[in-house]
This record gives sequence, structure tokens and C-alpha cells, in this order.
Amino acid sequence: MKTLAPIPPSDREVEEIIRLVNTGLGFKYNISKKHLIISRLNRRLIQLKLGNYREYLEYLHAHPQEQDTLFELITTNITSFFREPKQFEYLQTRLLPELKENKKTGTKLRCWSAGCSSGEEPYSIAISCLETLGPGWDVKVLASDINTIRLKMGTEGKYHTEQLKTVPPAWLRKYFLPLKEEKEFYRVTPGLRQKIFFRQMNLLDDSSLPPFIRFSFIFCRNVFIYLNDQAKEELLAIFYRRLNPGGHLFLGHSESINTAVDNRWLLLGNSIYQKKD
Ligand SMILES: C[S@@+](CC[C@H](N)C(=O)[O-])C[C@H]1O[C@@H](n2cnc3c(N)ncnc32)[C@H](O)[C@@H]1O
Repeated sequence: MKTLAPIPPSDREVEEIIRLVNTGLGFKYNISKKHLIISRLNRRLIQLKLGNYREYLEYLHAHPQEQDTLFELITTNITSFFREPKQFEYLQTRLLPELKENKKTGTKLRCWSAGCSSGEEPYSIAISCLETLGPGWDVKVLASDINTIRLKMGTEGKYHTEQLKTVPPAWLRKYFLPLKEEKEFYRVTPGLRQKIFFRQMNLLDDSSLPPFIRFSFIFCRNVFIYLNDQAKEELLAIFYRRLNPGGHLFLGHSESINTAVDNRWLLLGNSIYQKKD
């Protein structure tokens, strides 16, 4: 028997959902996202056997943990290995060699992939660190996201060959093992996997991180585009506090900080910023 699609939501119902998303995630969604909301949530309503969005809103109020599922369905998780290659070039040829040279922080490197999705970004960062710094460095990458399903994919570290197309062949051989049981799938090596700490976290609340942890650099790419001005400001305050003196912040290529207003950051090019002290 064919499952019936839920009755489309009224604008008011969409606005109620948007209010939950904007409050929880700091997003700037408005009614123009109605079609996105319907396309992402219809299947969930069918799964819950709910016939309309009023019932879904009631379900959300009665089951607060459903908010996590709502956030998972609403967020966009597109990512890839070594995405925005100019930034990885900067990391490998400028920033990491500088950190290697300038041993102020010893041979310990802490960095953060904030909004890491399914792990391609933190694994790309860890490979860059291992390749550039060489042995003897204690490298740890914090990889955080709100989406537990994507985090689980990152934790498993299993990727299809299609997803690995942007990994240079020598690094594919070195850091990924073909799976015998599943053709065309690879898993990251245990050595690479152990450099990454996956953690579910809302970016707007860093209270679950150890209070004294500071990072040499932070990647927060393709997240700002969704955020409202207040959330961006809160997030920049968190990043500023969490970076070492002179630390670097990598944003997505279409994202920027208005340095005329916020003069704590120096633009180095390609959406890479340096914390001014
Ligand atoms: C488009 S992906 C970008 C992934 C990766 N940074 C990249 O550029 O390839 C954005 C990620 O940010 C996460 N995200 C969005 N808002 C968030 C928030 N408030 N807290 C934590 N994660 C968030 C989403 O779940 C999604 O996985």
C-alpha cells in the first residue's frame, strides 16, 4: 500500500519549526525555506505515522529529544576530503612549517574542526599534520558537529572510492585500507583514526570542552553561511578565546569576518584569518 504524504504545513507551522531551528542552532532561516523544511521533514512524519505538521509540532513538544533529529534533518552536511584546496595548501606549506619551526608550543599540536560533518575535513587536517610535521609530534584534532549520524560516519572512518577521489593516491595508499568484505570501500588506518576526537556539540556552547584547552588553528567552514549575526558574533568570541596567540581561523570560501567592525582578526587571504593579540 502506498504511504500517504503528510498534509503540507501552513506558514505558521513552518514558522514554528523555523523558530526552534533558529533558536537552537543560531540559524537565520525564514519562510523562504518552506520547501526545504517540507522536503527534509516529510519522511520523518511518515516514519512517525503523523498525518500533518500540527501533530509533528505537538510531538516535538512532548518529546524534547526529537529536536536533535529535527536539527539533523535540517542541517546541510555536504563535505569532501581536502575541500577548498588553497586552504590546505596554506596549511601544508605555510602554517604547519611555521609551527614546526617555532617550537613555542613544543611538539604538541591541538586543532579543531568545528562543524566536521562526516569526518572528511578532520581526516584531511590530520593527514596534513602528519605529512608536514613528521614523526615525534603529538597531534590531536577535535572534530565536533551537532549531527550524531554524521559523527558516527566519521567515527567509523569508512568511505566509498567516490568520496576518496580528492585524496592524493600516495596518501590513499598510506592512510586508507581497502575493505575485503565491501568492494569499493576503504577505512582510515587506526593510526590516523586515533588522532581524531569526535564529539557531539552545539557550536554555540563550548562549555563541554575543557576550560583551558586552546588550539593552534580552527577550521569552521561552510557553517557561518547559515548563522544569524548574533550567532556569528558569539561563535567568533568562542573561537577568539579558544585560539592560541596568533592562532588561525579558516572559514568557508564564501564566508568572511567584517574586519572593519571586528578588528581582532587579520585577513591573510582565502578566508583565512589570524587572531590579533
Ligand atoms: C556544510 S557542512 C560543512 C562540513 C565541513 N566543515 C566542510 O566545510 O566540508 C556544515 C556542518 O555544520 C554542522 N552545524 C551547523 N550548525 C551547527 C551548530 N550550531 N552546531 C554544531 N554543528 C553545526 C552541520 O551539522 C554540518 O555537518
